[in-house]
Amino acid sequence: MFAGRALAVPGRIHYGAMLACLLLSCSGLGSELKVRVRLANGRVTEETLEADSQRNLITVELTQGDGSLVTFIADFKQEVKIFRSLILGEMERGQRQYQVLCFVTQLSHNELISSESMARLRQKNPRAVRTAEEQRGVEQLSMSVGVNLSQAWQLSTHIHNMCSDASGAIYTRQADAQYWLERGVDGGTFKTLPQTWGVPALRECPSTEDLWKPCICHHSLRLEWYPCLLRYCRTPAVAAPVSKASSYKCGIRSCSKGYRFRFFVPYRQLCLWDEEDT
Ligand SMILES: *[C@@H]1O[C@H](CO)[C@@H](O)[C@H](O)[C@H]1NC(C)=O
Repeated sequence: MFAGRALAVPGRIHYGAMLACLLLSCSGLGSELKVRVRLANGRVTEETLEADSQRNLITVELTQGDGSLVTFIADFKQEVKIFRSLILGEMERGQRQYQVLCFVTQLSHNELISSESMARLRQKNPRAVRTAEEQRGVEQLSMSVGVNLSQAWQLSTHIHNMCSDASGAIYTRQADAQYWLERGVDGGTFKTLPQTWGVPALRECPSTEDLWKPCICHHSLRLEWYPCLLRYCRTPAVAAPVSKASSYKCGIRSCSKGYRFRFFVPYRQLCLWDEEDT
């Protein structure tokens, strides 16, 4: 069982002894953690978490049970989160070697700890297989708007690098597009895509037989383990009167969260993984 203090935020001297641990980066600006996590199918995978406090971002990367490589960026500067999935194609079914999907949406406060706190985490027991303390369930996101790659820098400067292979498959929600438009983002950045309620012939991909017909596709992913909250400890009462007791950062709480994206594809062929019962 993973304890919150296994990854601890150093700071107080009296915590030093507990932190006989591996220092992964000495720069103070960035750090990288490798965490072994167990997937729903029982297999263990290595997840990489990187923090860059100068650019104010956190990157999480892992390979899912279905073999897709997921990269997640939390861009705190522009308050945007980006999910990229690299899905291996089924070449025997005429697909490309891999297919890239990008999903861009607003980052809320307190979804995960700050890049600065993350950069200070030190790793203990790197071989341990960890399970997140809090399982946050699955958020359903309807990604009904396409994002133009060459304009996407207006939302986050990281989209272009992350999603250049996903051209034509960068999606966001209607409410996010609206929010950004109200803040001066160019209207040409977004394109509303067909939805089942507007186009009667448009169906979910699993019930679309013709591989060259458009349909509504789903893709699921899970961030298996990430630091979602800082833990605070109180200084011992002997050191300070109760009324003045101060607290300090002494560790993190880990979370796991799933995302299920719903989006338009111009051909059933671009959504072969989505079959009945997914
Ligand atoms: C994306 O934006 C660029 C620059 O405004 C434009 O030339 C291009 O046609 C747009 N692409 C699509 C698919 O709309």
